[in-house]
Amino acid sequence: MMIFWWFLALLLGSVEIYRAHECDVFTYLDLYHAIIGTSLYVKLLLYTRANLTCGQELSHHNLSAQPQFNLTKPTTFVVHGYRPTGAPPNWLNNIIEQLLARGDMNVLVVDWNRGAANINYLKVVTYSRDTADNLTAFIRNMQENGASLSSIHMIGLSLGAHITGFVGAKFNGKIGRITAVDPAGPQFNGKPPEDRLDPTDAQFVDVVHTDMDAFGFRKPLGHIDFYANGGADQPGCPLTILSGSGYFKCDHQRSVLLYLGSLNRTCNIRAFPCTSYTDFLDGLCMDCDQFKPAGCPVFGYDIIEWKDSLVPLQQTKAFFTTNKQTPYCKTSYWVDIVTWNHDTRWGYITIKLHNGSEVTEATINHKASSFKKYSETRLLAQFEKDLQKVHKISIKFSRVNAFKPKYKLRVLRIRLTHLERKDRPLCRYDILLEDNREVTFRSIPCEESNF
Ligand SMILES: *[C@@H]1O[C@H](CO)[C@@H](O)[C@H](O)[C@H]1NC(C)=O
Ligand SMILES: *[C@@H]1O[C@H](CO)[C@@H](O)[C@H](O)[C@H]1NC(C)=O
Ligand SMILES: *[C@@H]1O[C@H](CO)[C@@H](O)[C@H](O)[C@H]1NC(C)=O
Ligand SMILES: *[C@@H]1O[C@H](CO)[C@@H](O)[C@H](O)[C@H]1NC(C)=O
Ligand SMILES: *[C@@H]1O[C@H](CO)[C@@H](O)[C@H](O)[C@H]1NC(C)=O
Ligand SMILES: *[C@@H]1O[C@H](CO)[C@@H](O)[C@H](O)[C@H]1NC(C)=O
Repeated sequence: MMIFWWFLALLLGSVEIYRAHECDVFTYLDLYHAIIGTSLYVKLLLYTRANLTCGQELSHHNLSAQPQFNLTKPTTFVVHGYRPTGAPPNWLNNIIEQLLARGDMNVLVVDWNRGAANINYLKVVTYSRDTADNLTAFIRNMQENGASLSSIHMIGLSLGAHITGFVGAKFNGKIGRITAVDPAGPQFNGKPPEDRLDPTDAQFVDVVHTDMDAFGFRKPLGHIDFYANGGADQPGCPLTILSGSGYFKCDHQRSVLLYLGSLNRTCNIRAFPCTSYTDFLDGLCMDCDQFKPAGCPVFGYDIIEWKDSLVPLQQTKAFFTTNKQTPYCKTSYWVDIVTWNHDTRWGYITIKLHNGSEVTEATINHKASSFKKYSETRLLAQFEKDLQKVHKISIKFSRVNAFKPKYKLRVLRIRLTHLERKDRPLCRYDILLEDNREVTFRSIPCEESNF
């Protein structure tokens, strides 16, 4: 008899253990559901440091039912966008882990896949309003249970970005922070602020644009709007439908990869406030004196550190370029060139930096640069890698029109200044650049005298 009770206890015990490891997961749907359509269901999945990989569905109405949901800790909502195939987003686990690595918080995944998975995009747009209303009720409940709106951060992707905006408006902008990751454009472009995300929706609204010519939103929507590579086409993404299956979503998805890279601090991407991408490429916006001592804003999760200087400016557009794969950050140099050809020369410049066996290259060809006798031409060169201890430089000049006669560029001085280490520029004096021929030389410290 004793043995029987023992056995039963053991059995019950193991059932208990088994249940303790049951996790709630993101709703899995497929194309079939997307075609027949689904009705909205908003599932809230809680992840904490104690339960990094095991989600727990929260009750919308009884918050004390889940003791892990500690309202004295900050809460970050992650809101996905349109899911035309119904499959769960593949970046979910990554963003949950990275957020919890950054801080002790509640991460709430807002799973509105039943609603977002529908081939009828217009229907999904109406569900986005309903989802926002549902979240608003939930956050009111959080408030009643002691949570402060300031400690809430909502990260919305694509259509999810506008959901966070609708919720934020209901709280008159008192929510701490909204981050919009390539906010959706279709059905939102050109709409008034109440029908989309805008800077009054939270105390601080930061936005990144990567696909504004297709799925993304064009105009600035936040206190700071980052336009990665100008905000439309991303390096490494197929430019035409013929050149790859990623054509439809690559640019749009790049925003998520860039954001994840900022969370895990793979490399810091400095962005440059500027009125246009062209001005930025022309090197006209490289000074961030107004943000002293922090310097130019760093894209992504850490931009909150610039909040106090950005909010009074109301809306800031900031630009940066990236590599085509991770690590995405580039390294910027100013290249100042003084020439002494009698006639003004026009052309493109390619520069290579060498340190021992490593080399990194920058091509300045977004437009032809002009070189006028004795006047300084300043160019912005952005390199894939940040080489330490550069000891050799290669430079190539090519004329604009290959049919015109070849000519030489007579360089009096070239000076390269690393934007993060301005105190140690590299120089070289008196070099002759023949058309389309690379010249390699050792760099020397710059002389004090300036042109
Ligand atoms: C993790 O989640 C499970 C499943 O919901 C739950 O039973 C368990 O208590 C959680 N673990 C901790 C340490 O909170
Ligand atoms: C929010 O949605 C969930 C599930 O879809 C539902 O159970 C809950 O009652 C909704 N909340 C409100 C306030 O309607
Ligand atoms: C809320 O959940 C707790 C814990 O599961 C339970 O004790 C309580 O009765 C619930 N309250 C309501 C109003 O359902
Ligand atoms: C909730 O979080 C606060 C702050 O981290 C902590 O001091 C407190 O012990 C937590 N409460 C519970 C019930 O875990
Ligand atoms: C950081 O995130 C990016 C983007 O997901 C990824 O490619 C990279 O490998 C990650 N790096 C580390 C160190 O986790
Ligand atoms: C060259 O730069 C790379 C990247 O910064 C660095 O890891 C390496 O040590 C440098 N090599 C030399 C010889 O300075």
